[in-house]
Amino acid sequence: SAAEKGGYDYFMLKEIAEQPKAVADTLLGRIDAAGSLTLDEVRISAAELREVDKVVIVACGTAFHAGLIAKYAIEHWTRIPCEVELASEFRYRDPILGPRSLVIAISQSGETMDTLMALRHAREQGSKVLAICNTNGSTIPRESDAVLYTHAGPEVAVASTKAFLTQLVACYLVALYLGQVRGTKWGDEISAVVRDLSHISGEVERVLETMEPVRALARSLADKKTVLFLGRHVGYPVALEGALKLKELAYMHAEGFAAGELKHGPIALIEEDLPVVVVVPSPRGRSVIHDKIVSNIQEIRARGARTIVIAEEGDEAVVPYADHLIRIPATPTLLQPLVATVPLQVFACELATARGNEVDQPRNLAKSVTVE
Ligand code: G6P
Repeated sequence: SAAEKGGYDYFMLKEIAEQPKAVADTLLGRIDAAGSLTLDEVRISAAELREVDKVVIVACGTAFHAGLIAKYAIEHWTRIPCEVELASEFRYRDPILGPRSLVIAISQSGETMDTLMALRHAREQGSKVLAICNTNGSTIPRESDAVLYTHAGPEVAVASTKAFLTQLVACYLVALYLGQVRGTKWGDEISAVVRDLSHISGEVERVLETMEPVRALARSLADKKTVLFLGRHVGYPVALEGALKLKELAYMHAEGFAAGELKHGPIALIEEDLPVVVVVPSPRGRSVIHDKIVSNIQEIRARGARTIVIAEEGDEAVVPYADHLIRIPATPTLLQPLVATVPLQVFACELATARGNEVDQPRNLAKSVTVE
């Protein structure tokens, strides 16, 4: 009903708008006044966490993309090797697991059968399983050794939005906590990131306030057949998520690529007026990849692409090559997906509406897939 949708036309719009709160709620009570992480609810002891020699993340769909981003954070802050695998592929390839492997199963619903089967397989090998889940008491957390709940509130639209942002927050919390428990040379960086995390919900809010040009752009592309997405570092999984949203909602052909792979194939796809969304890393910090992606934008534009550039405020280097420029607030590199994903959600939702599609219930999809 209209009341359930809180005045929005679709649950998806409501859920996109709820993201600042979802992010804040997921952080609530998990960072103390001194900036330390307090994840006592995760019932895996500090001693056990110090023994972990490998992290393996399993998930499906949008949750898998959260896992891909988590890998960058976990490996950078903790130096523990981290693999990310589609849950549906995991147990069929005889993965190497043991008692010192920490398996993280990410699932909004907690009922995805592929993810459940992957975690059962991990537990049979003696690994500890930590669930990151949005649904209290669902099967995946019940069958895991421990759970960190995301506090997104119920997500109704089939295409995941606020759950994704909270999955990212939960992954960052786990990564930072592992760093804290084990000690890391990134102590100062971790304190800075914890500080930035506590402001991030306001940044997400700011992004939401500037989405009207993104909606207008989406409407202008309603007749297109294909949209490509490019990203690098954590922007690569963001590109994958942008493409997934477009497939799910707009039923358009959409693909995400690692920008560094452009010359190994995807550049052959570029033709006159093809929309290409590029997620640009911060020019601060990892400035080498920033400069490389700016050359990529130049290359594809020289071949006729219509460039839609998502770049940090103050990044002037992209301006000459952006047919459309979407600004996002400056964040630490690893946190950028929290703000960079939002325009892509809005873009897909508006394109779906412009194409007359059912936004909350896309054809052929289910909110939670409880069969293998
Ligand atoms: C389905 C939904 C996706 C979701 C995926 C994983 O495919 O349509 O939006 O990302 O399942 O769901 P989960 O509940 O495990 O996060």
